[in-house]
Amino acid sequence: MVKKKLLIATTNQGKIKEIKKSLEHLSLEISDLKENRIELKYEEKGKTFLENARGKAIFYSQFFKGLVLGEDSGLEVEKLGGAPGVYSARFAGANANDELNNKKLLALLEGVPWEERKARFISAQVVVEDGKVIFETIESVSGYILEEPRGNYGFGYDPVFYYPPLKKSFAELLPEEKNKVSHRGKALNRLKEFLEKYLK
Ligand code: IMP
Repeated sequence: MVKKKLLIATTNQGKIKEIKKSLEHLSLEISDLKENRIELKYEEKGKTFLENARGKAIFYSQFFKGLVLGEDSGLEVEKLGGAPGVYSARFAGANANDELNNKKLLALLEGVPWEERKARFISAQVVVEDGKVIFETIESVSGYILEEPRGNYGFGYDPVFYYPPLKKSFAELLPEEKNKVSHRGKALNRLKEFLEKYLK
């Protein structure tokens, strides 16, 4: 039987790894933008994670026959009024990268006591087929921003995000441990439930 195709509409290798790992047991042929040589960039203009995830999935669906998964995720820090939020990837400006984003965040929170360092990661996921939304979900995970980075796994803000139930930063968790509790992992579980029925 020919497997249905699913495009992960991102170039973020950290996300791609986590999504592929989580969906590997499904009867799907999964690939990302780079593997499909899709180089067009989608400009995120939405004010919410869901708007951006929807926008990405609908945009890339024009160039792909099959299911397209758009994910928009980010970090919301209570003390910063929800920033960096939908601007998480570009927090430190035009040349932002994970290290510069983390530096900026830690500088903004310098001297802020532990109880005021609450934050949450959000993941919005939308699946589109032939230009139509067929699934969407949004999930989050709460924690605290550390005073300095810890751990070498993961990507993005993982080294500065402390997860109290496991007493570790997200970058100290093995990929499968992070997937069990993270915003993306939880949203992927919902997606898996949907796909298991949809692919039958
Ligand atoms: P997006 O490509 O616009 O969704 O950007 C998401 C950004 O949010 C990433 O570049 C990271 O900076 C941050 N982010 C999202 N999810 C995670 C995560 O699981 N760990 C660490 N940082 C994340």
